[in-house]
Amino acid sequence: MSDRETWASRLGFLLAAIGSAVGLGNIWQFPFKTATNGGAVFLVFYLVAVLLIGFPAMLAEFIIGRRTNRNAVDAFAELGFKQWRVVGGLGVFTGFWILSYYNVVGGWVMRYILGSATGAYFGNSAEYFGAISSGPEAVAGQALFLLICVGIVAVGVEDGIEKATKVMVPSIVLLMLGMAAWVTTLEGAGAGYSYFLSPDFSTLAANAGDLIPFAVGQAFFTLSLGMAAMITYSSYIGDDESLPVDGGIIVVTNTMVGVLAGLVVFPILFAINVSPDTSGPSAIFVAMASAFPQLPGGRLLGVVFFGVVLIAAISSAISLLEVAVSYGVDNTSYSRVSLSAMLGIGLFVLGLPSAWDLAWFGWFDTLAYKLFLPLSVLLILVFVGWVLSSDAVAELRQGTGGLRAFGPTWLWMVRTVVILGVILTLALGLQTLFL
Ligand code: PFF
Ligand code: NA
Repeated sequence: MSDRETWASRLGFLLAAIGSAVGLGNIWQFPFKTATNGGAVFLVFYLVAVLLIGFPAMLAEFIIGRRTNRNAVDAFAELGFKQWRVVGGLGVFTGFWILSYYNVVGGWVMRYILGSATGAYFGNSAEYFGAISSGPEAVAGQALFLLICVGIVAVGVEDGIEKATKVMVPSIVLLMLGMAAWVTTLEGAGAGYSYFLSPDFSTLAANAGDLIPFAVGQAFFTLSLGMAAMITYSSYIGDDESLPVDGGIIVVTNTMVGVLAGLVVFPILFAINVSPDTSGPSAIFVAMASAFPQLPGGRLLGVVFFGVVLIAAISSAISLLEVAVSYGVDNTSYSRVSLSAMLGIGLFVLGLPSAWDLAWFGWFDTLAYKLFLPLSVLLILVFVGWVLSSDAVAELRQGTGGLRAFGPTWLWMVRTVVILGVILTLALGLQTLFL
């Protein structure tokens, strides 16, 4: 394995991992989930879920990846626990599953960019986008989006993923900041902010049982956990990095971009009194698109906004593709290029139902959120917390310098709060899935 690829620098790893985390989840899901589930009340739930469950779980994945420098499946064998390879397999499967419909959204976004640039939807956005969100056009979009991702991953870890995310991630943050500053000048900005964040305790009282699995599921999705992405990315780093510091930077940046997205989206919607309808997976984009025609510089604004969404989607999708490619590179004699292409075709086929019919899309997403993600994270936590145990703490301590004392606290948390939280999430989620 001496010729195994690595990141060129610590910054390269950080930007790639942030690129994986910051994605459609932050822009397309988080602001609306927050606004419609109690605003600041949901935000608090979500932050607790991210800090208490997401962050420790991310460290668990880093530990597995960095200790072994192997793909997410063989990492378990490398650690001496062959039977646990199935847990890595579940992660790879979950990543593949999620990516199959994530690509479909990526395809939509490209269509929105095109429509903004040409002004094609400026007459009737609902009708225009209704026609493209499923069926042949969605299939074409999905294929094009996949082609871009395959192209980047095929080039390699350092020359493809690292170089691409080094440009993409700073662009996302800067453009978001720019847009957030610009929308403060809009008429309805104040109403937008308050729609986003004003606390509403009635939703909390009405949906307490839903809110926990919802917030925890969102935390996993947004941090790219449970899909072997963070195991894979951390398998390309060295022992001199502080995992808690890296994890902290990723978590904070990811949360910041989600909040920023809300600060961009709602002032725009309220500037022109678009009702923030959230029914259906593409409703959010349609709402945004119906605002742009009425704003000064609407075409440009549309291109920039959807452009940021696209960059965020690509930098996330490539991490999931890399998960599967990495397994193939370690286990077959195929080249990275052929593997990327073959897996791209497989993803295209698996994504066809979601691209063809929104009902399938919803089914794929629900199953990911309520079953695959929490189950995958739970098994990883049990493995790291109870099987690896003190070895995990030793690995966590590598490169942490002054933070050494954090190790045992982390292990204690994983074994108690974190695992119980995920079990609760899984139970509540399954209950709503099957009852
Ligand atoms: N974290 C990404 C987001 O918030 O959009 C989604 C995602 C990317 C999930 C990569 C999983 C993954 F491995
Ligand atoms: Na995210």
